[in-house]
Amino acid sequence: MSVLVVVGAQWGDEAKGKIVDLFAQRARYVVRYAGGSNAGHTVCVNGATYKFHLIPSGILHPNVIAVVGDGVVMDLRAFGIEAAALHEQGVDLSRLRIGRGVHLTMPYHRLLDELEEAQIEGRIGTTKRGIGPTYADKAWRIGVRVADLMERDRLAQRIQRVLQRRNPTIQRVYGAKPLNANELIEEFTHYAEQIRPYVCDVPHLLMQAAERSEPIVMEGAQGTLLDLDYGTYPYVTSSHPIAAGACLGTGIAPNRLTEIWGVAKAYTTRVGEGPFPTELTDEIGDRIRNRGREYGTTTGRARRVGWLDLVALRYAARVNGFTALAVTLLDVLSGFERLKVCVAYRYNDAQTREFIADAPALARCEPVYAELHGWREEIDHCRTLEELPTNARAYLNFIEEHISVPIRLVSVGPSREQTIQCS
Ligand code: GDP
Ligand code: IMO
Ligand code: MG
Repeated sequence: MSVLVVVGAQWGDEAKGKIVDLFAQRARYVVRYAGGSNAGHTVCVNGATYKFHLIPSGILHPNVIAVVGDGVVMDLRAFGIEAAALHEQGVDLSRLRIGRGVHLTMPYHRLLDELEEAQIEGRIGTTKRGIGPTYADKAWRIGVRVADLMERDRLAQRIQRVLQRRNPTIQRVYGAKPLNANELIEEFTHYAEQIRPYVCDVPHLLMQAAERSEPIVMEGAQGTLLDLDYGTYPYVTSSHPIAAGACLGTGIAPNRLTEIWGVAKAYTTRVGEGPFPTELTDEIGDRIRNRGREYGTTTGRARRVGWLDLVALRYAARVNGFTALAVTLLDVLSGFERLKVCVAYRYNDAQTREFIADAPALARCEPVYAELHGWREEIDHCRTLEELPTNARAYLNFIEEHISVPIRLVSVGPSREQTIQCS
């Protein structure tokens, strides 16, 4: 293993949480490298369901040190709620570490995200968790970091400076109530004491671990097609979910990465606005949504559903350099007579196998489908490839051949055991 990255290969919610949980059994560190409380990772173990937004899902394993890398943005109000819920479920949080370079998602970030999303025009369909405004302040170099939080004077200075810029926007552009600096300073001084025991220098921690060849799992959030640069801009998140983001968000050098695992559903989902060539708005889509319980972990929104898009998946395989693929939720496709899989796009009267990340152009692409035979049987009890119906195996072979990446895991249900190891 050494350094293994788990990356969402589609538009998020590919079951990264479940796959990370499987690898975490053999890991010493599990590290979140990007995003914030926009993520929602569900892990089902021994009949219990755990929901993670900020805390790496590896925390469930007693040998794992769960690390929030510097590329993550952290909402401390949301963190408090999540930590309390996990504590209630008996999860030991003493093995948590939080990077000093982590940027804080402040109440004004969340407010600005909500105000912006309330506009009809240009709406992205964000999770309204303040993610875009937090990364914007980071790039504008007026962000507040965990390191600032550790010293009250520094915190006060940073908050005062940023509110001088953000309050006029809140008031004049959106007509909303400005935030009070002193109240924020008080609130965040309190949070500082709550998280102080967890704060550490993440790049140093992980560099040393990598030099000792201790097994590290990097837990991706969101998905490749939501990447700020390589996704369907502007309908993206504001961080780098791709494998390169694992290096940016942790301080681990690219030549240390040994395995890059893509996680893809056997079909496709998307939450929020933006082009989706294989989207199904008919009863087939409803059936997949119902079977797959496709409602968001974070916002509860119904996810948009469509056929598997191999043009997009092949792009994800190349952008990330997948060394292996985990195909999840294959059980959801049981009971369909025929299954469609998109193998090319028709764009400007020509056919292409290359993904088009430009959103307006992608919106004009027509999917070209291959049709495969479905299978009738439920497969959630299958534990080996041989137990799968022939047509389900043919479906997996078709994916593998098309994207030239070996499928090494297949998931046929939410729980740990409902997994097929292929190699
Ligand atoms: P993540 O954000 O990538 O971690 O994915 P989510 O947790 O948001 O969404 C995946 C959902 O599918 C969760 O509710 C999982 O419990 C569930 N799940 C995971 N693997 C499977 C599977 O193989 N089959 C089914 N039916 N559900 C699964
Ligand atoms: P996980 O880690 C699915 C989507 C939002 C929206 C866009 C921008 O559970 O896979 P943001 O709040 O990030 O500014 O919203 O990105 N999005 C996700 N979709 N899964 C996620 O996370 C997502 N995180 C953000 O719906 O379209
Ligand atoms: Mg999710």
